[in-house]
Amino acid sequence: MGAYKPLDHRNQKPSSKNPGCFLSKPVCFWLVCGFLSLALLHLLCCAPAATQQAVFSPLRQYINNTYSFVSSVPGEGIKSCNYSEGTWVWAPGHARRYNATECNVKERQDCLRNGRPDTGYLDWRWQPTGCPLPAFDARTFLSAVRGKHVAFIGDSMARNQAQSLICLLTASFRYRLLYRDVGQQKHNFWSYAFPSYNVKVSYYWAPFLVRGKGKPEDDSIKENHVHLDAPGDRWAADADTIDVAVLAAGHWLLNGAIYYNNSEVIGAHNAPPDFTYTKIGYAWPLHMAYRTAVERLSSGRPRTVVLATFSPSHFEGRPIDSPTACTKMEPYKEGEKDLEWIFKEVRDVVYDEAELARARAGGDGGAVRIEVLDVTKLAAMRPDGHPSVYMNPNPFEHGVPEKMLSDCLHFCLPGPVDTFNEILVQVLKRRR
Ligand SMILES: *[C@@H]1O[C@H](CO)[C@@H](O)[C@H](O)[C@H]1NC(C)=O
Ligand SMILES: *[C@@H]1O[C@H](CO)[C@@H](O)[C@H](O)[C@H]1NC(C)=O
Ligand SMILES: *[C@@H]1O[C@H](CO)[C@@H](O)[C@H](O)[C@H]1NC(C)=O
Ligand SMILES: *[C@@H]1O[C@H](CO)[C@@H](O)[C@H](O)[C@H]1NC(C)=O
Repeated sequence: MGAYKPLDHRNQKPSSKNPGCFLSKPVCFWLVCGFLSLALLHLLCCAPAATQQAVFSPLRQYINNTYSFVSSVPGEGIKSCNYSEGTWVWAPGHARRYNATECNVKERQDCLRNGRPDTGYLDWRWQPTGCPLPAFDARTFLSAVRGKHVAFIGDSMARNQAQSLICLLTASFRYRLLYRDVGQQKHNFWSYAFPSYNVKVSYYWAPFLVRGKGKPEDDSIKENHVHLDAPGDRWAADADTIDVAVLAAGHWLLNGAIYYNNSEVIGAHNAPPDFTYTKIGYAWPLHMAYRTAVERLSSGRPRTVVLATFSPSHFEGRPIDSPTACTKMEPYKEGEKDLEWIFKEVRDVVYDEAELARARAGGDGGAVRIEVLDVTKLAAMRPDGHPSVYMNPNPFEHGVPEKMLSDCLHFCLPGPVDTFNEILVQVLKRRR
């Protein structure tokens, strides 16, 4: 599927031929040097800043990338690489890896099918600071998890990433659909097998990670009743079969719920006005939800638990029915937009719980390996990657309505969320 291959700078040899100069070699050399210096001098002192930027930034980037390729010794570089910091660099076609209609993604995230006309959002590649990030390779992923059951557990961002992985894998490998719920929940509980590597990939809907009653089960119900002491029922029932768990949650906890411990209400966040429970905010329930989930996965078989950090939305104060919400067509540049503190706080909760879980497991040697998949910054820089009004097919078919629903939270498939899986492969390959 035409994976984008970064240029291999190490293989470029300087040409040894005399470049057709009619003067003797040394004279020719000094002439060229002189001319180049003059041109450079002109550019530095007399060219407008924009031109300087245009000329030097690809050069700087080239040097940066070359340096990263050279400095990362295979294996060693991978171990110490931190993929969370970096920039999006222009790479035409990098994200065109599959046809989402063919891998059964949720219709609302199939932006190409829904008629999104601009496709520049598919032309970017995440370049971590100081190390390369190889393009997704299905064989590498499947080898890294040979014989294992990989389960994504969490909210619709966990599902977004799980569907991306299915698309990336089914584009190159034979698969079998093992299971899929019917009706309203058809995208919420499913499982695929990849027989050539004996790998199973599943998704379990659990927007609070823990047991959620009410709205999580039936969208027409208004309230969420969330039991912080019990892991989500469906995934917990299968927990003993899971070797690699990827957890992602946060958005539903920010929205709020009525929270329980041992079947007794302990407080609420954003409860409807007719409830008068103690207000407990979102941070503490978020800690507890992660803790309960990770604890459930910390007993039994040895396994890897990957905690994905928060992937922020880009409504940026606009209402959900604004047709102009998230219509930006390029990633943010470094420094253009600060991460909102609330998003930072939610990301940090995940780091804290990972730290705590590692300490509980007895450091690095325990049976459960805890990893953080930090996607917050790379996701925050992609306001252009959401379906926006193309969450529905051909939204402008009948003119331009004043109000139109926009999705500025999930990512289009294909799209920036594929990068989450590019990083996941590297995380799973580490220390094996
Ligand atoms: C090159 O890397 C440095 C840090 O490693 C970073 O500060 C700088 O912005 C990078 N430059 C470009 C053009 O990517
Ligand atoms: C990566 O770097 C960020 C920012 O420098 C730091 O906060 C974080 O702890 C690091 N993450 C990992 C997984 O090492
Ligand atoms: C994806 O596949 C569907 C059905 O096979 C086809 O109709 C559609 O044109 C394809 N879309 C793209 C963007 O290639
Ligand atoms: C629930 O109650 C038990 C004591 O019965 C306590 O140990 C635990 O910390 C409480 N958990 C939460 C999430 O409040």
